[in-house]
Amino acid sequence: MTATILVTGGAGYIGSHACLALLQAGYAVVAIDNLCNSHARALERVRQLAGRDLHFVQGDIRDAAALGRLFADHPIAAVMHFAGLKAVGESCKKPLLYYDNNVLGTISLLQAMERAAVKRLIFSSSATVYGFPERMPIDEEAPLAAYNPYGRTKQMIEQMLGDLCLPTAQDGWQVALLRYFNPVGAHESGMIGEDPGGIPNNLLPYVTQVAAGRREWLPVFGNDYPTADGTGVRDYIHVLDLVDGHLKALQKLETLPEGEGFCRAWNLGTGQGYSVLEMVRTFEQVNGVAVPYRIMPRRDGDVASCWADASRAKTELGWVAKRDLATMLADSWRWQHNNPDGYR
Ligand code: NAD
Ligand code: UD1
Repeated sequence: MTATILVTGGAGYIGSHACLALLQAGYAVVAIDNLCNSHARALERVRQLAGRDLHFVQGDIRDAAALGRLFADHPIAAVMHFAGLKAVGESCKKPLLYYDNNVLGTISLLQAMERAAVKRLIFSSSATVYGFPERMPIDEEAPLAAYNPYGRTKQMIEQMLGDLCLPTAQDGWQVALLRYFNPVGAHESGMIGEDPGGIPNNLLPYVTQVAAGRREWLPVFGNDYPTADGTGVRDYIHVLDLVDGHLKALQKLETLPEGEGFCRAWNLGTGQGYSVLEMVRTFEQVNGVAVPYRIMPRRDGDVASCWADASRAKTELGWVAKRDLATMLADSWRWQHNNPDGYR
């Protein structure tokens, strides 16, 4: 029988790619999203690309009744939990909004799962839980030290999920904590991708909007970091590789005996760092478009460098990121170029 997976935040950037990958792998998909940062059109395109249907409910994960109905109506075997707010700057201005949406939203989801006796969960965590790491590359044993409200919601949720899986807890939860580095890129069709509202916070959507002429120039936040060219270094990972990591984590949970408590963190990154200027130059070369930029002051809260030790995911999940930087940047541009106004 085909297993059914509930995808929270399924209309979002990563969630929509996950829905597609699950459908293509033969799973049935139920998605819930309140569309606070996404568009239902993403899921229409997922259906088109997959040539299969999925069940979509527009709703909030804090709505216990809506979740109860979902679990009653569908034989859900596991949950991929992407729903959440993710803007660091906004989380500093409106911390309560973030604790309510991310932490209480997750508690509401876990309670609904418990009532329905569904115990397998894959959680979208972030490298942001490592704070300002002491050593590079970062492995999963590095101390957790999130330093902004967004990051702390992720850290709190990780701790809560860890507690559910303690040997003393009776429920037998099986949880994968996936710590993403910097997801970029889009499906190679150019039909689904990242569609940030307003001014993009993250590098790649800003770069593609400058390339498309929607913005005049890219602000490069600081060129006096202790890195090769002075600009910040990050571990960019193709969203399709990231989603493949979720399928591998799901397969891992599926092999565990039911009732056996399990909680494990895995970094999802390539293990390779690139600077902001390397990103800009490679983007220009691969896509043949200019990206004018200006050096600006450092952005508050930025680390100089951050890249993953992804060897645990390789050893334990049989997962490695396969797509190179040129592919990430070509796919990001194809999506932006084909959809200058995103899904609108
Ligand atoms: P996204 O904003 O595109 O997707 C999140 C989705 O969740 C959106 O569609 C939004 O409408 C929905 N949502 C938010 N709150 C909800 C609620 N209460 N009920 C129902 N739906 C709700 O973001 P994304 O980039 O796809 O990120 C997915 C997850 O991965 C998030 O939890 C994010 O924190 C995490 N993450 C993202 C990155 C990144 O760089 N994109 C990095 C690390 C971790
Ligand atoms: C940011 C968040 C992090 C979150 C992640 C994914 C901060 C401090 N960190 O990570 O918590 O998990 O996004 O949502 O906000 N840059 C520019 N110009 C720009 C944008 C970015 O030079 O217009 C630089 C940054 O200084 C950094 C690099 O590009 O060196 C990557 O930035 P970004 O895409 O925002 O990711 P992170 O800062 O790694």
